[in-house]
Amino acid sequence: MSNYKKNDMPTLLVTGGAGFIGANFVIQVRNSKWANIVNLDKLTYASNLQNLAKLQDDPNYYFIRGDINNSELVSYLLEEYQPDALINFAAETHVDSSIISPRNFIHTNVVGTFELLEASKAYWQKLTSPRKEKFRFLHISTDEVYGSLSSTDPGFREDTPYAPNSPYSASKAAADHLVRSYYHTYNLPTLTTNCSNNYGPMQFPEKLIPLTILNALNGKSLPIYGDGRNIRDWLYVKDHCDAICLVLIEGCTGETYNICGINEQTNLVVVEKICAILDELAPQDNFQYSSLITFIKDRPGHDHRYAIDCSKISRNLGWKPKENFDSGLLKTVQWYLNNSAWVDSVCTGTYQSWIKQNYGTR
Ligand code: NAD
Ligand code: DAU
Repeated sequence: MSNYKKNDMPTLLVTGGAGFIGANFVIQVRNSKWANIVNLDKLTYASNLQNLAKLQDDPNYYFIRGDINNSELVSYLLEEYQPDALINFAAETHVDSSIISPRNFIHTNVVGTFELLEASKAYWQKLTSPRKEKFRFLHISTDEVYGSLSSTDPGFREDTPYAPNSPYSASKAAADHLVRSYYHTYNLPTLTTNCSNNYGPMQFPEKLIPLTILNALNGKSLPIYGDGRNIRDWLYVKDHCDAICLVLIEGCTGETYNICGINEQTNLVVVEKICAILDELAPQDNFQYSSLITFIKDRPGHDHRYAIDCSKISRNLGWKPKENFDSGLLKTVQWYLNNSAWVDSVCTGTYQSWIKQNYGTR
């Protein structure tokens, strides 16, 4: 907690705080009451204001609908709220979508991050001591920038060369490079985190885990790309949010931190585990959920394996994930079972069109 005095509640400008990880982060921070939050979100299809409904009467939380590419708005928010840090969650995040229509990924993930950096630089340069030394620009990135591993390769380290393989990961890699350059060129006090696949409450059901839960509950097929042997390292979202707070408070400026789940699973095992939980919590008389598993045409350029070596954050900041996969997955499935209004609100016509577009021809 060296960066902030105990009774000095910082203000964080969070972008993309109505999406999955951003909303979990905002709620976690406001529950703990250690920071005021200003949340700037464009409210794309992946967002949901219901995620933040419990904060509507919170006097230390402000929501602004807007685009990170709107440099005037971002500069205005920085001047108006005088934040101690900007945390950039805002992004287009779905790999399959980036394969079908990459343009928005470049616009938001690359140009949007550039606009945030420019506005933050101008704001930070005008700050005076001690607020100038305290300011942080924390950029949330992904392990996908490092490319794909074979089954036996060691995990990605912070110095693993970048080798992105999808338009999504290439756009995140470009943004990471811009963040790095603003530290080295202008001394803007930046931090970057690269984390593995998150799961937990409030994830939009285009991603594997919520898609599987909701398809299963609706008796629909459970689509697995290729042979189901691709490997991801699954991180419970609340552990990720704890790590972000720690990096913000204790991290060294100019540094990057890999954040891991220490939980590598093949996609097939993930889907089978969800089916086993549903067989317990929502049993069907005439079938077991695993009978819905269907192998379909692979994702183009599908990365085989992601794995993270997170010894740096563990050694330097004392962080490691707390949740184990079985308990985290159980909590996640229970959340979707208990939140049918949320589920109904996201399974709209736009979502159904996406399902048709991505799965209809596979
Ligand atoms: P998400 O898709 O659930 O949410 C993204 C949010 O950003 C949405 O609320 C959306 O409305 C907002 N947004 C999009 N474009 C915007 C724009 N131009 N201006 C303002 N807001 C905009 O994403 P997520 O899964 O919560 O991911 C958050 C961040 O974490 C992203 O940067 C992503 O690359 C990174 N990340 C995610 C994962 C994961 O497994 N979900 C893993 C590693 C890194
Ligand atoms: O690694 C971090 C990344 O994890 C984040 O940066 C991305 O924003 C996030 O979307 C996620 O990317 P993935 O492509 O790994 O996540 P997704 O949930 O889309 O897919 C997980 C794995 O499951 C992947 O190997 C593809 C496979 N899959 C996915 C879907 C949606 C299927 O087999 N069937 C499916 O229907």
